[in-house]
Amino acid sequence: MIIFFFYIIIISIGSIKCRDSNNLVTKQSALFVFGDSVFDAGNNNYIATLPSFRSNYWPYGQTTFKFPTGRVSNGRLIPDFIAEYAWLPLIPPNLQPSNGYNQLTYGVNFASAGAGALVGTFPGMVIDLRTQLNNFKKVEKMLKSKLGEAEGKKIISRAVYLFSFGGNDYQFPFVTNSSIFQFISKEKYVDFVVGNVTDVIKEVYKIGGRKFGILNMGAFDCAPASLIGDRIKIGSCFKPVTELISLHNNKLLNSLRRLEHELFGFKYALHDFQTSLSERINNPSKYGFKEVKKACCGSGPLRGINTCGGRMGLSQSYELCENVTDYFFFDPFHLTEKVHQQIAELIWSGPTNVTRPYNLKALFELN
Ligand SMILES: *[C@@H]1O[C@H](CO)[C@@H](O)[C@H](O)[C@H]1NC(C)=O
Ligand SMILES: *[C@@H]1O[C@H](CO)[C@@H](O)[C@H](O)[C@H]1NC(C)=O
Ligand SMILES: *[C@@H]1O[C@H](CO)[C@@H](O)[C@H](O)[C@H]1NC(C)=O
Ligand SMILES: *[C@@H]1O[C@H](CO)[C@@H](O)[C@H](O)[C@H]1NC(C)=O
Repeated sequence: MIIFFFYIIIISIGSIKCRDSNNLVTKQSALFVFGDSVFDAGNNNYIATLPSFRSNYWPYGQTTFKFPTGRVSNGRLIPDFIAEYAWLPLIPPNLQPSNGYNQLTYGVNFASAGAGALVGTFPGMVIDLRTQLNNFKKVEKMLKSKLGEAEGKKIISRAVYLFSFGGNDYQFPFVTNSSIFQFISKEKYVDFVVGNVTDVIKEVYKIGGRKFGILNMGAFDCAPASLIGDRIKIGSCFKPVTELISLHNNKLLNSLRRLEHELFGFKYALHDFQTSLSERINNPSKYGFKEVKKACCGSGPLRGINTCGGRMGLSQSYELCENVTDYFFFDPFHLTEKVHQQIAELIWSGPTNVTRPYNLKALFELN
């Protein structure tokens, strides 16, 4: 009887002290992150790539971290805020050598700046979506081998999986002057992108993942680099990408709805990033911004040339704004920490016209 009583106490202490390093099984949902520069917390620091695919130099990271972590922004990214709201520690890059397997129980970040859903997007320079999936499979194996099959499975099924893809797939053809749209229609190209994202979501589901947080394509057709993309009409959003974004967002929504019917227990939170960014670009003062066209860091018209921090060669000169909190875009393609925080709040607890059908808070709370 006494032994039995002690046994209960030990079990309950075990579940209360969920962050004890000797007791790795937490009741919390872990957070696994897949994506591009919108989510990359520094994985590209550890791969063989060109310096222009990294952001581990000043002034990246000038706010909050006071140190260039590799995040393509002045400060924290959306997943950093989500982790905070979910009472998780900061989710580190998967390739960071110092990660112990302890960390894996809270999740890791597989995202890579420049990555696309298509293997042909910046090939050899980035960790593409398929490779990110393979890296996740390695983590899953490690969790199961360290914690046992049952506990490993529990972590995988309780976890939330964040995805941000598309931006690079839709920029790549224009950045490289590719003639791809002479051979396949924009519609078909978007089908490939959404098809590949959908396939990877299905694979994560097969491994046991159930809760997915997904961003649709944000209004990056109106980023400073895009505003100078049209050499004839500088200052207007880049139409060829606008069209791809709109196709992408329709197809992505349809695809997720289909998955919800096909896959038992599949749950998702789709954030309308396109609308939430446009809303801010169109009403800057309502959201506390003074400058939504010009980048804080870069050179040329609207600081839309991608030279922040000397990206294209460290001796290159660039301009840096005085007060980043006034700015929407930090560099010609990427948002400031202040935007990330506002968006993360909408993803976390936004109403269903912004993040649907669940918000992320609801997904984290599901068992
Ligand atoms: C793409 O084409 C434009 C205009 O024809 C040219 O100025 C630019 O250098 C080209 N870019 C690349 C990466 O080839
Ligand atoms: C994934 O992308 C490739 C092109 O990189 C394409 O051939 C393939 O059909 C796509 N897969 C799906 C399911 O759309
Ligand atoms: C930066 O801008 C914010 C908002 O416009 C303002 O509150 C703050 O005082 C400014 N900081 C500096 C150093 O000018
Ligand atoms: C969402 O609904 C709220 C009211 O519940 C409204 O104020 C807001 O403008 C809507 N947002 C969008 C993006 O439609």
